[in-house]
Amino acid sequence: MLLRNTQKGMQTIIVTGGAGYIGSHTIIELLISTNFNVISIDNFSNSTSRSYQRIKEITGKSFETLDLDLCNKEKLYTQLSKIKNIIGIIHFAAFKSVPESVTDPLSYYNNNINSLTNILSFAQQQKIKNFIFSSSCSVYGNADDLPVTENTPLKTAESAYGHTKQIGEDIINFVCKANAEFNAVLLRYFNPVGAHPSGKIGEFPLNRPNNLVPIITQTAVGKNSLTVFGNDFDTRDGSCIRDYIHVSDIADAHVKALNYLIGNKNKKNVSVFNLGTGNGVSVLEAIRSFEKVSGKKLNYTIGARREGDVVAIYANNNLAKTELIWIPKYSLDDMMGSAWKWQQTLEAES
Ligand code: WQD
Repeated sequence: MLLRNTQKGMQTIIVTGGAGYIGSHTIIELLISTNFNVISIDNFSNSTSRSYQRIKEITGKSFETLDLDLCNKEKLYTQLSKIKNIIGIIHFAAFKSVPESVTDPLSYYNNNINSLTNILSFAQQQKIKNFIFSSSCSVYGNADDLPVTENTPLKTAESAYGHTKQIGEDIINFVCKANAEFNAVLLRYFNPVGAHPSGKIGEFPLNRPNNLVPIITQTAVGKNSLTVFGNDFDTRDGSCIRDYIHVSDIADAHVKALNYLIGNKNKKNVSVFNLGTGNGVSVLEAIRSFEKVSGKKLNYTIGARREGDVVAIYANNNLAKTELIWIPKYSLDDMMGSAWKWQQTLEAES
């Protein structure tokens, strides 16, 4: 769907997975705070084109979109070779559910690795120099020491999802070793949650979500039921610890990472950054925060542990702060409040 012809001569950023949760929020920040042409590529396997209209409403700007599966190498080349002035690629497109990857690992390896190698091959062939990869704190596995820094040794991934991110990082490292002209930033997201402050866009879960926060907000409107997966872990309240980070803070980090690369501020041609707040929050604390900001008492049960879960993980985010000049803005209550506002928008539209 062409929302606008690419303006002649303007530099273009390709965003793969741009209709998805983090991709759509990143396009909003790109359109608001840069002059790049943005082209979004998505096959809507885990998203909907409604995101595109919401982006346009929020920013008042248009951008091009391509309905394209990156695993189709031939179609990728045919469609993308027509685009001139591509100055960078932000690669979000991937399957991302930890529990789903435990039950269906091969779909994760097929999709996440093939789509990455195809878009990297295209970038190499077209001499596109700047590449931002959507990585994950899942690459750390069950880390011995917390908070994790970018130099914390990677343990065995607890899920195929986390393993595809470890493999993806290794592939990019070797591509950069082979090509000094190619610059990559690997962004290790912790737990992206919440929704754009406008309340006009958020996560459009196509089917029952696996992630905690959309399940919390659906439970609050009676559309789901929340089970806390274990309260017998070796943590302060027995539930798992995560570093929840607002999706708009994550989006802002991508713009800063792009400027970091385009401004040649990177000291090496592969840079890794943790994108977390640096605060570990338990599942029960997240629930309490939601109850506080929504005024809703949440009914939940305590259930068995979930396969693939790490007990605790949270970030040392100093490198992103100093190198990318990135400071997370939103608190846990802001995250829960924006998620609740978005759920209410969805209810009003259904
Ligand atoms: C969070 C906590 C669950 C659901 C996510 C993304 C993954 C990656 C890492 C970016 C865990 C508990 C959950 C429920 C629960 N992010 N939980 N009941 O597994 O940490 O992974 O962050 O790359 O893409 O999926 O997130 O939200 O599924 O779980 O108790 O119904 O909430 O056990 O402790 P996870 P999550």
